[in-house]
Amino acid sequence: MVMALVQHTADSYYGRMEVATESHSYTVLMLGDVFGQPGLDAVRTHLPALIADRQPDLVLANAENAAGGFGLTRECADELFACGIDVLTGGNHSWEKKGSRELLDSDSRILRPGNYPPGLPGSGVCRLEKAGVSWLVLNLQGRERMKPIDCPFRHADAMLAELDQMPAKDRPLIVVDFHAESFQEKEALGLYLDGRVSVVAGTHTHVRTMDQRILPQGTGYLGDLGMCGPLDSVIGVDAHTCVQRNLSQMPLKMESAQGQARLSGAVFTVDETGHCCSIDTFDYPPTV
Ligand SMILES: [Fe+2]
Ligand SMILES: [Fe+2]
Repeated sequence: MVMALVQHTADSYYGRMEVATESHSYTVLMLGDVFGQPGLDAVRTHLPALIADRQPDLVLANAENAAGGFGLTRECADELFACGIDVLTGGNHSWEKKGSRELLDSDSRILRPGNYPPGLPGSGVCRLEKAGVSWLVLNLQGRERMKPIDCPFRHADAMLAELDQMPAKDRPLIVVDFHAESFQEKEALGLYLDGRVSVVAGTHTHVRTMDQRILPQGTGYLGDLGMCGPLDSVIGVDAHTCVQRNLSQMPLKMESAQGQARLSGAVFTVDETGHCCSIDTFDYPPTV
């Protein structure tokens, strides 16, 4: 018998959804966009304890904003890997730092969305063995209110074509970071990939959503993992600058805010057939 349970309480910073399962399970911990030095500090401060507590089998983070809010450098990537992260995903800012081409081409653990036009550096897919199981991490980017790159739906089809033909027991556990602005597009991709991948989690908005659900064919879905970055900010950016940009409509230079940061993300539990059986969202420290 399958049981669904949702717990959202005013005094809790967890949102939990669970489906009972008796088979062996694996856990994937995913962090939202790591933003600037405050985000790096939050990962260093909170992630080791979170890993010790939840014992995840795979740890992912979106790092498109790790270097000062815009892009990723080797130093920032190494700092994140040293905190226990296995794979870093990316997004529209992945290209912004000098040396990004070399970085993306030199380390298979650093992804950028795969559905950019062919011929660009890096990759949107990483396959690895961990906890005695094969994993595939897929990084895609949306197009609604973003650059009109290649279709993420068809790109996912191309990436999964071979795997779709395999029996579930032979397939890797597949986790998707869908870096997109539109929740219409995010939900549509989640349902398009339902039953073909274990997790579809959104990034890019820097606002963690509470729309987690296990889709009809067993894929765990969360619209956005949120941000690991400065609390006193506008999605990570210095608040005063953002207010002035709105008031003046001038392209004032945006820089990372400073100060206390929050770590946001979710833990997905996946059974050995690839079905998601629970989704726990978290914020450290809690904001309410
Ligand atoms: Fe971002
Ligand atoms: Fe982004």
